[in-house]
Amino acid sequence: MKIFLDTANFESIQKYLELGVVDGITTNPSLLFKENSDPIDAMKKIVKMVDGPVSLEVVATDFDEIMDESLKLASYGDNVVVKIPMTADGLKAVNALTKKNIKTNVTLIFSANQALLASKAGATYVSPFIGRLDDIGHDGLSLISDIVQIFSGYDFSTQVLVASIRHPIHVIESAKLGADVVTLPPEILQKMIHHTLTDKGLDIFLNDWEKLKKGFPNIGF
Ligand code: E4P
Repeated sequence: MKIFLDTANFESIQKYLELGVVDGITTNPSLLFKENSDPIDAMKKIVKMVDGPVSLEVVATDFDEIMDESLKLASYGDNVVVKIPMTADGLKAVNALTKKNIKTNVTLIFSANQALLASKAGATYVSPFIGRLDDIGHDGLSLISDIVQIFSGYDFSTQVLVASIRHPIHVIESAKLGADVVTLPPEILQKMIHHTLTDKGLDIFLNDWEKLKKGFPNIGF
C-alpha cells in the first residue's frame, strides 16, 4: 500500500520524505489556505520537491474551465495528478484528460456508485472520504470495502486512495481491505511512528548502556 501525505506544508513534506515512507502528496484548497502563502507558487514548489504523484485540485466547476485549469496544473510537472471533484462536468473532464494521458484523482467520493462512475470515466485514483462519513454516523471503512470489492471483481485499473483519515486504525483497516493508497495528515503519520512501549524500551536500553559504561569507561564503537 502506498502512503501519500495530505498536506501543503513544505516543512512536513521535507521531514517525512526524508524518512523514505512517503510515496506522494495530496493537496486541496483548504490545505493550501492553512499555509497562507501564494497557492500557485506553493503547488509548483511541492511538485518539484516530490519524486512521486502530487494531486493538485481544480476549483472550476464548469467543464471548459475545469479543462483549462487542469491543463495549467498538469503543466507544472510530469508528476502532477489533477484532482477533480465528483460531478458530471468533473467526470467529463476526467474522460477528456485521460485521453490526453493526464492522470486524475476524483475527489469528494462518498458512495460506491460515484467510485464506479469515476473509474469508468478513466480516473487514475478515486478518493473516498472516510472520516467525513464517520463524522455523520456512516461507516467510512465499509465504503472502502465495497469499492475494493467492485474494482477487483471487474479488474478496474483505478486505484483506491483512502482520504479524510482521522486516526491510525483507519490506516490499518484500509491496508487490510486492500486499498491501494492512504493519504495521511502529518500528525497521523507521526502517531504511526510512535508507541509508548518503544519509548519505554529505548529508555531502558540507554540507561543500561550508561550503567555498562561505568564498568568499561573506554567503550566506543
Ligand atoms: C485528500 O485528498 C482530501 O482532500 C482530504 O483527505 C480530506 O480530509 P478532511 O476530511 O480531513 O478535510
